[in-house]
Amino acid sequence: MPSYKPHFPEIVDPGGVDASPYPRAMPITTDESRQATVSETGGEPLTDFAGTSNPYIDYQSIDLLLSLQHPRSDGYDEMCFFVMGQVKELLFRGLHFELVNAQMQIRDGKVDNALVILSRAKTMVEYIVRSWDVLSTITPDGFNQFRDTLGTASGQLSFMYRHVEFVLGNKNRKLAQAHRNVPHVWPAMEKALTSPSLYDDVIALLARQGHALEVNALERDWSETYKPSASVRDAWQKIYREPEADNALYRLGEALIGVDEQMSIYRWRHFISVHRIIGYKPGTGGSAGVGWLEHVTSHRFFPELWEIRTLF
Ligand code: HEM
Repeated sequence: MPSYKPHFPEIVDPGGVDASPYPRAMPITTDESRQATVSETGGEPLTDFAGTSNPYIDYQSIDLLLSLQHPRSDGYDEMCFFVMGQVKELLFRGLHFELVNAQMQIRDGKVDNALVILSRAKTMVEYIVRSWDVLSTITPDGFNQFRDTLGTASGQLSFMYRHVEFVLGNKNRKLAQAHRNVPHVWPAMEKALTSPSLYDDVIALLARQGHALEVNALERDWSETYKPSASVRDAWQKIYREPEADNALYRLGEALIGVDEQMSIYRWRHFISVHRIIGYKPGTGGSAGVGWLEHVTSHRFFPELWEIRTLF
């Protein structure tokens, strides 16, 4: 869209928004109160509210959320880029929640619960992958119209994405340290860097279930990127010799590789979309751009689960 200038419809007057990030006070309803309300409304939706807000707005601070879209240029494609960037941050937030909870269930030995959660996590990554269908409609000239306004901002500085990588085990102190000057973000980032990942908890579970593992697979500096271990590979190989529905560890291995596969597809879609939009120009974040993304595309979170494929 080289010359068409966008119209930005005004949706929310930012001057009226309660900008607090904390939950707003809200009344609770019950089956009984909802029944009583229906009797009063005769079955029609509520449309009269006291004060200056309504319960839908307050439940998720929707007016605040919808007052945060500020494209910085009049390039037509920037609104699409801006909204999709925010949507992806929210989806990574949701994905991270699922992965942390899967990890906690595994730590508690509740593998069946973890499997339910990992199934949703995989579906969420599939959904996030599809965001590239929209983003890759941004053309090279469309991107050029607003790229300068990004300054040195880059997705590589997404602390939410970094949390996802870290809970899955791809630790990287250098990339984490990009956030050390942000006091309300750094403590959680540093904790994620230095704590066991989901896969570290899976490996501890394998040991608790009787698999003989090398000590350095169980006790290590958690801030280091996970390095494949022969004993973990042997444990998975043994587990995969019984590919039965009642073999919970086998099902766990398959659930994990499903998430890993989708994350690989996500990285590949990012790489290929970026290639399509900016070719081999350098990234805004200081990297070589597409070459750097191609390199990170080859990462696998659970290497032994990939390795054993060759052994069968
Ligand atoms: C559509 C236009 C986009 C382009 C041209 C683009 C380009 C790039 C480039 C070149 C890099 C390498 C680092 C650097 O900037 O030097 C990168 C990294 C990254 N981008 Fe994008 N990007 C785009 C959209 C997005 C969006 C919408 C998100 C999600 C919020 C995102 C998330 C990331 C992440 C998380 C990384 C770091 C990857 C890693 O650590 O493995 N990108 N991007």
